[in-house]
Amino acid sequence: MRNPTVKTVVVPAAGMGTRFLPATKTVPKELLPVVDTPGIELIAEEAAQLGAQRMVIVTAPEKQEIMRHFGTFEDLCATLRSRGKMEQVEKVARAAQLIEAVAVEQDRPLGLGHAVACAETALGVDEDVVAVMLPDDLVLPAGVMEKMVRVREEFGGSVLCAYNVLPDEVFNYGIFDVEDAGADFEGFDVKRVRGMVEKPAVGEAPSTLAATGRYLLDRSIFDALRRIQPGKGGEIQLTDAIDLLISEGHPVHIVVHEGGRHDLGNPGGYIPANVDFGLRDPKYGPQLYRAISQILRDFEAANPGIEEYAQR
Ligand code: UTP
Repeated sequence: MRNPTVKTVVVPAAGMGTRFLPATKTVPKELLPVVDTPGIELIAEEAAQLGAQRMVIVTAPEKQEIMRHFGTFEDLCATLRSRGKMEQVEKVARAAQLIEAVAVEQDRPLGLGHAVACAETALGVDEDVVAVMLPDDLVLPAGVMEKMVRVREEFGGSVLCAYNVLPDEVFNYGIFDVEDAGADFEGFDVKRVRGMVEKPAVGEAPSTLAATGRYLLDRSIFDALRRIQPGKGGEIQLTDAIDLLISEGHPVHIVVHEGGRHDLGNPGGYIPANVDFGLRDPKYGPQLYRAISQILRDFEAANPGIEEYAQR
């Protein structure tokens, strides 16, 4: 179902991708493929499914290749067509057909909050919601943003997406401090946010609900971003601006996501994402299943103390 509430989706893609060096010296992290499709095209697909018409991509001066991915590649398509490679023509043309991609530039990587602020002028004056989707975070199956739109209609304010992690994994994430929203809303698990703790120590986290890369923010986020100081790592943090709004009484809720999630931002999350998508791929799945099974058997045979290794 197309949802008219979100016309534009903001996709910050100007980060340095340091966890993916050396690949990201020349290839933007957002173009690294999951099987054969770059993460940013998967996000374009999710945004189009939400009913958005435009994707404002926040890019860095040295990451122009990202916008090129949304070009039409007419010469390449003509060559492929002349060789009868119609399936490949579709693959090439798809990104541009999914959604209109517009670029705004972030001169320097001053943080996610700063990147979102760069998109302000690209939003229409009639758009009172700022939908942000991070291209290195896959939230599966798609559709959580639709739920978040419904929650915003009911409770107002801003709505984020949370994912339940194991208690010993909290130190990797932004963790929500929550209270019950008072109702099980349309079958979604919705909670009101009291605050957020960035990467808490195990045992000190207020919950096991971790932030994911899906945000439906009130337009007042831009004003909050102007009023905060650089935070962790000297960067303008989006979570600091959200915290400021909460402290001023702005309602912030989370939808607890029930499905899967892949963090494409580091090799440790990117590789499982490729295995997951690869195993489901009708073309590569069966062969990949056999190959991975064999790799595991060989690895286990060569490493008798394997359980201990897996706990590291
Ligand atoms: P990340 O922190 O995951 O990306 O930001 P990063 O900074 O590129 O990664 P590392 O830590 O150096 O490995 C989440 C998203 O926000 C964007 C990134 O491109 C990514 O899609 N981002 C981050 C910006 O657009 N600008 C920034 O200043 C920081």
